[in-house]
Parts: sequence; structure tokens; C-alpha cells
Amino acid sequence: MKSLSYLNKYLVKYKWRLILGVVFITASNFFGVEMPRIVKKAVDLFGKKIEELKTTSITDIDKSDILEGAFYLALIYVGLSLCRGVFVFLNRQTIIIMSRLIEYDLKNEIYSHYQKLTPAFYKNNNTGDLMNRISEDVSKVRMYLGPAIMYSINLVVLSVLTIYYMVSVNLELTLYALAPLPIMTIMIYYISRVMNQRSEEVQRQQSIVSTFVQESFSGIRVVKAYNMQKSLSKSFLKEVDSYKSKSMNLATINAFFFPVIVLLIGASTVLTIYIGGIKANAGEITNGDIAAFVIYVNMLTWPFASIGWVTSMVQRAAASQTRINEFLKQEPEIFSKENAVAMKGGDIVFNNASFVYPDSGIKALQNVSFTLSEGKTLGIIGETGSGKSTIANMIARLYEVTSGEVKLGGNNITDINLAQLRQAIGYVPQDSFLFSNSIGNNIKFGLSELDESSGKKMEQAARDAHIYDNIIDFENGFDTIVGERGITLSGGQKQRVSIARAIIKHPDILIFDDCLSALDTETEAIILRNLKRIMEGKTSVIISHRISSLEHADLILVMNEGKVIEQGTHEELLAEDGYYASLNSKQKI
Ligand SMILES: Nc1ncnc2c1ncn2[C@@H]1O[C@H](COP(=O)(O)OP(=O)(O)OP(=O)(O)O)[C@@H](O)[C@H]1O
Ligand SMILES: [Mg+2]
Repeated sequence: MKSLSYLNKYLVKYKWRLILGVVFITASNFFGVEMPRIVKKAVDLFGKKIEELKTTSITDIDKSDILEGAFYLALIYVGLSLCRGVFVFLNRQTIIIMSRLIEYDLKNEIYSHYQKLTPAFYKNNNTGDLMNRISEDVSKVRMYLGPAIMYSINLVVLSVLTIYYMVSVNLELTLYALAPLPIMTIMIYYISRVMNQRSEEVQRQQSIVSTFVQESFSGIRVVKAYNMQKSLSKSFLKEVDSYKSKSMNLATINAFFFPVIVLLIGASTVLTIYIGGIKANAGEITNGDIAAFVIYVNMLTWPFASIGWVTSMVQRAAASQTRINEFLKQEPEIFSKENAVAMKGGDIVFNNASFVYPDSGIKALQNVSFTLSEGKTLGIIGETGSGKSTIANMIARLYEVTSGEVKLGGNNITDINLAQLRQAIGYVPQDSFLFSNSIGNNIKFGLSELDESSGKKMEQAARDAHIYDNIIDFENGFDTIVGERGITLSGGQKQRVSIARAIIKHPDILIFDDCLSALDTETEAIILRNLKRIMEGKTSVIISHRISSLEHADLILVMNEGKVIEQGTHEELLAEDGYYASLNSKQKI
């Protein structure tokens, strides 16, 4: 339960809504409790007339006063109902809306915290988990903030008012009438718990089914190519079968909920009428009191049932909040120091830099050292898995070295203001990712929304990335929406859109991670030529498997198993007659 105290700051923030809610709940119950008393008066009124009938004949009875009395009582009853309704409405408007506002704040808090966390965090937690925290867990927490708090306050106010009135009529009858209610509370608690467990199982199975369907759609080409339709259908059948039986389990327990309430409330009514009858006969109470008691017991049904329901709701919310807190507690490992220095261009220096990926324990870099002067181009080549992308990750400070150091412009990278560093870097990752948005918005992604010349810049960037003609050939040009993962674009087009996204902001340091691989050599040469113009005086890092992409670089690193095995210019490396030279002769054939 302690985890829920995290939400107190929000309850304080919206305290006026909460306080008003309590006032409205009290008011609605005040009117609600008066209603059975009107029924009592009506029953007693009719009772008196029936008594009179025993001594006088029906024709002699004055009917006008009974009709008049009944009319006024009915009028008051309707008035009370209306007042009660108005306050129930107002109370929902305050407390349920408060819970929605807190839900909104909490989602924003979690989302902005997610944005601060590092790639290592995202490696350790799967996407489904992250999404569940912000959607399902938050909505369970909202159930605590809204309905649970509202029903709890309602229970207290209503019970106090009702029981006070009932006891003032007759204590013994009150005890009999209320006796079945605690039993109902306990039973509802257990039923709710089983209901929740089963509904979680249904939800889990539901997410397995949706992941399955989603995967088979996005991988449909692989599925068809391997002719796996039949076997996939069979696996799907298995999953939905399991979903069906879990749902049926849930339906069974759901079916118990109302019968239990009806049964116990029936027991309570029978007791009230039986014991009340005896007492009315003895003259201790009136018939009207019995009627009022029956209505009171019915009024108390839902609040008492809700204790069980609310308890299990609060337990679930606490479990969800614990999971949310686990994430909120995670401090980003990479952050800007308080006295961070400003990012200024300059040379890139790796000094005995080594790096081990924390989750896999793979030594991706071992004692890497090189110096690249400002405004120069660095080329990195080497076998797959040799650590090329890892060097790019270090320069963008997506990860930090395990030992050794990385310096930019003479400052240790960890001392540099992180936001400025990232702003200064244009990074084209190896797997070009496009958002499900228009091509134009994908290219403008890194620009400020206030940038008035963004349209012009976007077109220029598209030209420089040699994708402009392709884009305007589309019916909607730059407004063409690229579907999930840019399905409508070819591999090479996607690469060029993500190149345009990186060069649009004229970064101080540009990193190309193998993003020319899907392009023909002619397109590659055009882009490299444009790059030379754009990156005049600025630093570029080009990672590639093709010598043609980086032969003009000022410094080329040849990587192997995390180590730099050769470094120098194209000519120097050819003269060395090592790995690079042999690669060159193979590629030139
Ligand atoms: N996020 C990660 N978590 C754990 N291990 C990783 C991660 N990224 C890469 N590795 C491992 O680190 C090593 C170096 O990977 P890296 O991506 O730097 O290679 P690369 O030279 O870019 O290869 P490629 O040419 O295939 O892109 C590999 O053995 C890889 O398995
Ligand atoms: Mg790579």
C-alpha cells in the first residue's frame, strides 16, 4: 500500500476538487437518507386510515386528507430525489474528473521520464512492458483515485447517516438488518479477487494474441515465402482457444457477483420484515419503520458490496503503482553534469577507450585510440560485429566508455552539456527508422517547430540526400505518409530520407552508420559530393563496408574484434599492405 503514497502529491494538487467531492457526497446522502422517512410517513398515514376503517364505514371516512397527505409526501419525495441526483452528478464531476486529471499528469510524468532513460534501459525492458506501465497500470491507479476514493467516502458518509437513523428507531432491529452485510462484503472481496486474477489472465492472453497477429502481419512476406500459412493458423488457433477458455472462466466468476448480493440482501430483508413484524406487533415500532428499514438496507447494499470490490481494486492499484515507481526510480545513467561545459566543435579524441555492453558482457571496444582534427572526415571499416557502430554510439554519448576516455574539442565528453552535444550531432543510425508520419515531417524531425524556413531547409536537405526527385514523384510529395516502419519506401529511399533528416540541421558532427549500403555507387558518389560541400569545415564520421564510401576520408580506422588494427589515410593503408589493402583489391575486382 505504501507505493500509493507516491500519488499524494497529486491529491494535494487537486485538493479542492477532492474537498468539494466530499461536500457533494455528504449532500447527496443527506437527501438520500431523508427519502425512506417519507415512505415511512406515507405507510403510517395509510395504516392509520386502515385502523379507522375498523370502526367506521368506508363511506364516512374523509378521503380528502389522505389524498392530500399522499400528494404532499409524493411531492417531497420527488424533490428529494432531484436534489440527490444533482449532488450525485456534481460529486462525479469533481472526483472522477480529478482522477482523470491525475491520470493525465501521471502519464505525462512517466512519458517524460522514459525520454530521459538510456538505450541500455530500453535493451533491458521490452516494449510491451513499457507500454503497459503507461497504459494499463496507470488506468488501474486511476481506479483507485476515482471510483475507489469516491465509494469509500460514500460508504462512510452513508453508513453514518443511515445507521444513526436506524439505531434511533430500534437498536436490535438495526443489528438484525445489518448482520448479513459484512458477510456480503467478505464474499464480494473474494469474488473480486478471483475476478481480477482471471481478467488479468485474459488480458495477458489477449496481448499474446495481438502480438502474434501483429507479427504475422508485419512478417507476412516471410510467412508466404516459407509457405507457413497453415502452421501459423494452427498456432493462432491454439492461442485463441486459450483466450476463449480464460474468458469463459472469467464469465463464470462474474456470474456469481450479483446473485451473491441479491441473496444476502434478500436475507437481510427477510430478517427485517420478520423481526420488524414482531416489534411492530409489540408496538415498539410502526409499520412505516419496517418499510423505511427495508429501503435503508437496500441503500446500504452497494456501499457494503463496494468495500470488497474497492479493497481488491486498491490492492491492484498498489501493485501497479509499485511497478510504475520501479521505473520512475530509475535514474538515467547518462545525464548532463551541473557544471557542464558548452559544446564547441573541435577534434575527436579516443584515448584507450574500452567498452563492454552491460547486458551482454560483450567487449565491443578494446583500447581504441585515435585523434581526428576538427573539420576532418573519419572513415571506419571492418568486419561485421567489429565495433564500428559502438564507436558511433560513444561519440553521440548514447553509451559511455567503461575505461579510457572520449574527448570532443579538448573536453571529456561526460563534461559537455548533453543537450548541446546531441543538438550538434547529426546521426544516421544503421537501421533507418522512420516515424509513421509524412516524409516531410520525418525530414524536419530535428528542427525546432518555430523554424520558419523549415520548408526550404527540408527541400534542400532532400536534394542533398538525392531523394528530392523521388519524393516529388509521389502523388502527395512531401506529405506522403510512410506507413508503419516506412513500408511504402524502398530500402535505399528510407536510407536517404534518414540522411536528409540528419543533414537538415547542418550538424557540427555528422555520423553515417552504414547508411549508404543500400545505394548504388553512382548515388553514393553524388551524396558524398554533396556532403563535402555541406560539411565543409565540419567533422564527419562515415562507417561502411565499402571502401568506395570512405577512401577520401582523412583518417580511416580498420576495426577487428573491437580493436583498431590499422589506421591512416587510404594511401597509407594501401602502402601498409595489410587487411585494408587486401580488402581493397577484393572490392576493386
Ligand atoms: N546494444 C547492444 N547490447 C549488447 N551487445 C551489443 C549491442 N550492440 C552491439 N553489441 C555487440 O557488440 C559487438 C560490436 O557491435 P557493433 O554493432 O559495434 O558492430 P559493427 O561493427 O557495427 O557491426 P556491423 O557491421 O554488423 O554493423 C557485437 O559483438 C555485438 O553483438
Ligand atoms: Mg554496425
